[in-house]
Amino acid sequence: MSADLATQVRRRRTFAIISHPDAGKTTLTEKLLLFSGAIQIAGSVKARKAARHATSDWMEIEKQRGISVASSVMQMEYRDCVINLLDTPGHQDFSEDTYRVLTAVDAALMVIDAANGVEPQTRRLLQVCRARNTPILTFVNKMDREVQEPLALMDEIERELGMSVVPFTWPVGMGKLFGGVVDLRKKQMRVFSPGEDRAGGDEEVLTDLDNPAYAERFGMGWDQSQNEIELLGAAAPEFDEEAFLEGHQTPMFFGSAINNFGVQEVLDALVDLAPAPGARPSMQREVKPEEAKFSGVVFKIQANMDPSHRDRIAFLRVASGHFERGMRLKVVRSGKELRPNTVVSFLSQRRELLDEAFAGDIIGIPNHGVLQLGDTLTEGEQLQFTGLPFFAPELFRTVEVADPLKTKQLRAGLTQLGEEGAIQVFRPVLGTVLLLGAVGQLQFEVVAHRLEHEYGVRARIQPARYALARWVTCDPDDGGDKELQRFIDNNAHRIAYDAVNAPAILVEYAPELRAVEANWPKIKFHALREHA
Ligand code: G4P
Repeated sequence: MSADLATQVRRRRTFAIISHPDAGKTTLTEKLLLFSGAIQIAGSVKARKAARHATSDWMEIEKQRGISVASSVMQMEYRDCVINLLDTPGHQDFSEDTYRVLTAVDAALMVIDAANGVEPQTRRLLQVCRARNTPILTFVNKMDREVQEPLALMDEIERELGMSVVPFTWPVGMGKLFGGVVDLRKKQMRVFSPGEDRAGGDEEVLTDLDNPAYAERFGMGWDQSQNEIELLGAAAPEFDEEAFLEGHQTPMFFGSAINNFGVQEVLDALVDLAPAPGARPSMQREVKPEEAKFSGVVFKIQANMDPSHRDRIAFLRVASGHFERGMRLKVVRSGKELRPNTVVSFLSQRRELLDEAFAGDIIGIPNHGVLQLGDTLTEGEQLQFTGLPFFAPELFRTVEVADPLKTKQLRAGLTQLGEEGAIQVFRPVLGTVLLLGAVGQLQFEVVAHRLEHEYGVRARIQPARYALARWVTCDPDDGGDKELQRFIDNNAHRIAYDAVNAPAILVEYAPELRAVEANWPKIKFHALREHA
């Protein structure tokens, strides 16, 4: 392992930003980019106002709906660190995409609307983070509004999300009387001043917090916050790095993203608290980030990201080694060789040609179907990273073309959208009509929209009778492929193959599935498929 590689790994931070829709994730993302110098304020904020979309929203459909459909990637430098920020769709219908993004990060930044507290989508996302022991930083946003009392919020986060909360800052007042935040460690207060156009960092800082004049200056909120801070001093837990890294404790910050307030503290916390890339499990062994040889895993594929390019990009998280443009890579699943010359990194909204990357970085490899979700790339070693989840769909539709002459385009479009993970496409053993499976209803609408606009196909998407799907396998000890084939032959009317040819059983009712399970004890039924 070279010292240089280890240094590069240590200065990397890769995190996802998660929240319930409307909590302010997009706004905070923009402000993080702004504070790190990756974008200039004037243009981006105005563009956002005009088009109601942010730097991280790429697709037309996102603008129309005002929700983030695609997760996107941004890289910025701050202090001596390279920060990779992965945006996630807030809408629950796209949670599959979000789960996969969460497999590619080392930490998450959770944005909470101080008025609404913990909302359903936050809860769901947190469950995934907890299952993976992802460390979480918490940003409580919109303190410039009339919101919940900070102590009540803290209590709610602890109870609802099952983590202990360690406040690093504490607000003085709220809404019209929002005075600023006290840094509980430095014992100083940053005074709030509203406005989107300030570059930040130019606020007044008060260090003499025992000055009696402040009670008058900040009004009612002052005494209250002083009392609360005293209480926290006695009651709040100390920050425990280990508990944080295991996802049991979250540092909490208060602010107002739209007013550029509290953003600096979050950026500093990412550098100071969030972990550098760590070792990642593969089926064969644990892979350390500072190993000399390159390895990485595809966690997301997106077609036609930029309509003028009509391309397809595989997003790869670098797990180890040093990536250099033009190096020879092996796709472990297929054994195929790849020599990416036009790899891209993501600096704000611009795509830049990338020359090198290290563990923790996200690189985009344009390709025409060579790469699939979950693929491992190495310099030759037989490695397969684990943990990329596919969930059994809960909603099903049949899909046909309005114009039979477009059947080929429909298949091509669906294959690509399926490989991207936008939707699951099933090919029934009997019949020719394809089935679509999704976790959320909006996925169908997005697919219909994209089929029409990206592939020129008007698709007829109609309800299907299925309600449940389970992937099926059979262990070698129980009869293996032979027994599985016998099961498939006997159930042909309700078996379909997915995009990677994994067989699944589709049923109309849960009792039907239970009956099949009872009749076929040697077959295993899976609600979740991990890419292998
Ligand atoms: P999201 O990505 O989590 O869905 O949220 P987004 O950033 O789009 O913010 C949702 C709304 O909350 C936006 O208002 C945004 O301006 C507002 N917002 C974000 N941060 C703050 C804050 O600190 N204080 C206040 N008061 N509002 C905040 P909108 O009306 O939906 O959009 P727009 O017209 O402002 O663009």
